[in-house]
Amino acid sequence: MTESNARPKRIAINTGGGDAPGLNAVIHSTVLSALNLGWEVVGIQKGYEGLFSSDGLIPLGRSSVHDIARLGGTILGTTNRGNPLAWPQPQPDGSVRLVDRSGEIVKAFRKRDLDALVAIGGDGSLRIAAELHEKGLPVVGVPKTIDNDLAATDITFGFHTAVQTASDAVDKLRATAQAHERVMVVEVMGRHTGWIALYAGLAGGADAILIPEIPYEPEAVAQRIRDRYQEGPRYSIVVVAEGAHARGGEPVFKAKGEPGANPRYGGIAEVVAGFLEEATGFETRALTLGHLQRGGQPTAYDRLLSLEFGAAAVDLIRDGCFGCMVALRSPGIEAVPLSAAVEEVKSVPLDGQVVRTARRLGISFGD
Ligand code: F6P
Repeated sequence: MTESNARPKRIAINTGGGDAPGLNAVIHSTVLSALNLGWEVVGIQKGYEGLFSSDGLIPLGRSSVHDIARLGGTILGTTNRGNPLAWPQPQPDGSVRLVDRSGEIVKAFRKRDLDALVAIGGDGSLRIAAELHEKGLPVVGVPKTIDNDLAATDITFGFHTAVQTASDAVDKLRATAQAHERVMVVEVMGRHTGWIALYAGLAGGADAILIPEIPYEPEAVAQRIRDRYQEGPRYSIVVVAEGAHARGGEPVFKAKGEPGANPRYGGIAEVVAGFLEEATGFETRALTLGHLQRGGQPTAYDRLLSLEFGAAAVDLIRDGCFGCMVALRSPGIEAVPLSAAVEEVKSVPLDGQVVRTARRLGISFGD
């Protein structure tokens, strides 16, 4: 990375971890803000993978990004298994060894005359960015995840769109629940936190919201459903976060995850539905929204936040604030150290305004 004032800066962008609505708006904003400073921009495909192949970098000009801000997904591709510090390397005996390829990343940057990296990602990707910065890579971060579980920023882009998708789903379920006088149990994403379940459950008018932060008492949930049928009309909606679990119990996993990848939650809705049908005698059905919550066009709110984040990331590079991440600290966007960004998971505060509001409306958290 030659720090030369002679030539325009050349910056790279990559997207890591689970995709989220808004990624393309960040790319759009980063590219245009950089081009308007006379800089050049390249995109690294699929996290850091593009740096390890001859055709993995794509020049990003105005025409590449001019109308992508409204699109879900990421034009650069992404991966959940691309940690260059623990790169899965298949072995001749069929096993997989995790190797540190960070030195190759720094070298590849130098070889390609790149001055900075805008790393857009969640906790995992930002932790990688912080470690690569320690090894000499000039990197700035942009916080992304539908889970909204990054403590260093008020909100992450992607979260509002996921909440909209989940609350729209709850609205749609009401008709069939009422028609059959059923309990519908809806499993939403959020990994280790209950932000999506809480916001979508409250917005959608659920009767019970189960989140990892409040291990639930099954019988308490069943009693809420019985009361609900008593009050009428005779149907109920329960929104459950994928990481939720009963008091004294464990979360439900679909897969333990390959080496270097996160274990995958999945199946708690079926467990809750099975118990409720048994305990209440009311017909119950379960469904999992899964990756629907990662798709779709970003809402206007998420687009605005993403556009602001992209422009602010270019400012961090212009001001030489490497090892920093942009963060929403209402009412403005600030720079925070990447190390701070990944220190702790932001869980739902149990005494927070949103939980208190839900309780005042009689929504049960199973406690
Ligand atoms: O972190 C975003 C997220 O959607 C989580 O809510 C979910 O548990 C996970 O990613 C799913 O990961 P994958 O796309 O690898 O199945």
